[in-house]
Amino acid sequence: MFCPSGQHRGLRTNDAGLWHTQWPEASRRQSLVRDSRFSAGVLVAGLLPEAASGQERGKTVHNVVISGTGLYTPANSISNDELVASFNAYVQQYNVDNAEAIARGELEPLSESSSAFIEKASGIKSRFVIDKDGILDPQRMVPRIPERSNDEWGILCEMSVAAAQEALQRAGRSVEDIDGVIVACSNLQRPYPAVAIEVQAALGIKGWGYDMNVACSSATFGIQAATTAIQGGQARAILMVNPEICTGHLNFRDRDSHFIFGDAATAVILERADLATSAHQFEVVSTKLLTQFSNNIRNNFGFLNRAAEEGIGARDKLFVQEGRKVFKEVCPMVAELIAAHLAENQLEPTQVQRFWLHQANLNMNLLITRKLLGRDAEPHEAPVILDTYANTSSAGSVIALHKHQDDLPAGSLGVLSSFGAGYSIGSVILRKR
Ligand SMILES: CC(C)(COP(=O)(O)OP(=O)(O)OC[C@H]1O[C@@H](n2cnc3c(N)ncnc32)[C@H](O)[C@@H]1OP(=O)(O)O)[C@@H](O)C(=O)NCCC(=O)NCCS
Repeated sequence: MFCPSGQHRGLRTNDAGLWHTQWPEASRRQSLVRDSRFSAGVLVAGLLPEAASGQERGKTVHNVVISGTGLYTPANSISNDELVASFNAYVQQYNVDNAEAIARGELEPLSESSSAFIEKASGIKSRFVIDKDGILDPQRMVPRIPERSNDEWGILCEMSVAAAQEALQRAGRSVEDIDGVIVACSNLQRPYPAVAIEVQAALGIKGWGYDMNVACSSATFGIQAATTAIQGGQARAILMVNPEICTGHLNFRDRDSHFIFGDAATAVILERADLATSAHQFEVVSTKLLTQFSNNIRNNFGFLNRAAEEGIGARDKLFVQEGRKVFKEVCPMVAELIAAHLAENQLEPTQVQRFWLHQANLNMNLLITRKLLGRDAEPHEAPVILDTYANTSSAGSVIALHKHQDDLPAGSLGVLSSFGAGYSIGSVILRKR
């Protein structure tokens, strides 16, 4: 997709993250200070306290809009039937290979998976993937994504750039307008250099870039980070991208979870409201974040694995979860957080035209919207994309936003919300301009 020999063509010297820009003072002050406070475990980020005190000293606090979104969808899709056929071939072979140990009671036989169960338990019908053949090969059951040389763009960078180009185009912006890049996702390809800095170079963006990981909530936390930077004048516009190759951390031999994830990348342009010209603008009314420690979704893969040989290749070095517990614990937390967030902004859930919820499980989303609205949500009130994308971690709610926004009239209220490992929950109240 990109010419390796052109890798550094777009890179401009920026004193390695020391870029600092000062933009004309906006004429009007903002009145978001009421949202600014910290409380036990909850960061309410309408405006941070430093920004509030800055305002008192006469600094301008800028309003922020989402002015463009973008999506990269891999070319290949795997249906439930295809995935289950591969899984069941693996199970049958395992049970044949271990027939004697199973007969002696030393090993449990493995049970087959079923498409009907997957669709009923999760709402997932298919998922897009970077590599289909490696996943479906019962001898392998791992995507095959060849290594690239350091002179080529990495695959997360490549997906990010594809999503970013659409977001820039919808925002009516060129790379010269962007001052910072945040890559926010569940699985980063390497510790360093930051993927965000690679994306910056690939696109030719000046300024700064950094990576962040808050698992499935990475995008909403990334939106909050970008909003704060723009409010405080560190950037006019920020590109926030969510490249997710979830099939890389999924154990396709685990019956309880082999169907859960898919791959995709999303991008969001956030910018100063007074400078935005896009036809697709949403004012960031307020953001609210919550984290609470839980072992119920976990992945122990990390740089210290090589220092503990006994753990190498163990199941916990991929995604593991207690799905039932996650379902029971997270749904009420999400509904409470969104309701509290709306109340703090003098809004009722019934005033919200659209909930772009995290896309992990259809039944979770139905339960959350039922708790919020006191009735079942109409399909257009809480759009579903997990039926064809499965869980794409942080990208999921942004895919819903990207695909289901153009029909909303100006003034419509929406809530973008993510939830996942940590636990981590994000709520972003948006108003269509
Ligand atoms: C994972 C999840 C879909 C499982 O659904 P569930 O209804 O909780 O299913 P359970 O694990 O309780 O299993 C129910 C039954 O189906 C069986 N089952 C599990 N996987 C199966 C499969 N692939 N095929 C057929 N049957 C299966 C179980 O063995 C169990 O059988 P039993 O009742 O005889 O014991 C659901 O718990 C979930 O989505 N949780 C939240 C996940 C989430 O959002 N995680 C965030 C990730 S970032």
